[in-house]
Amino acid sequence: MKVLILMGSPRLKGNTAELVKPFISELEACGASVRYVTVADRDIHACRGCYACQNVQGEYGCVQHDDMYSIVEDILWADCIVLAAPIYSWYCPSNLKSVLDRHYGLNKFYGSATGSLWAGKSVGVIATHGYEGAYATEPFETGVIRLCAHSNLKYVGMISERDEDDLKSFQTPMAINKAREFARVIMERVKDGDEPN
Ligand SMILES: Cc1cc2nc3c(=O)[nH]c(=O)nc-3n(C[C@H](O)[C@H](O)[C@H](O)COP(=O)(O)O)c2cc1C
Repeated sequence: MKVLILMGSPRLKGNTAELVKPFISELEACGASVRYVTVADRDIHACRGCYACQNVQGEYGCVQHDDMYSIVEDILWADCIVLAAPIYSWYCPSNLKSVLDRHYGLNKFYGSATGSLWAGKSVGVIATHGYEGAYATEPFETGVIRLCAHSNLKYVGMISERDEDDLKSFQTPMAINKAREFARVIMERVKDGDEPN
């Protein structure tokens, strides 16, 4: 199985990256191929809402030739895309939000082009946050679930961990085990086509 992790924090060695480490090592132990992309150090502009991509058949077709093209290549490679993000203002940081907005060219729903370039892929979420659990993560998770439904992607679930003591919160055996367990769950759900609980 091929797993793409889009790590959305501007802190490349921060809390989210720390929680992702055991997740990656468990995925690899389970035999997955992993690509890890830090979105914040890429040149990804905001979607212009021009809809030009909607008239380009069979290709991504965005008029902005920035680093989103290499991320699209990674997305097309992957069976499963994991959005790893700190919660910022009840959603994700702006760089990752731009990537999510720029998904438009992968769905040809609004112009002369038709079809989807990514339907059927799986999507999971790893979130870190300051506020307590669901209160912090619900808006982002809901947005991702709806984006998946809209785009015919399979949502495979989320883990989240609260930032109580910066990096230390993500280095506890409990946090590490949660990340490892999520890797095993994803391997099962992507393989079996199960719905998340
Ligand atoms: C600009 C900014 C906005 C934030 N907004 C929220 C928020 O809306 N809800 C929340 O629970 N935590 C919020 N936080 C806390 C971060 O989500 C939390 O500290 C996270 O673990 C940081 O991860 P990182 O080190 O990977 O960037 C915010 C932090 C920053 C810097």
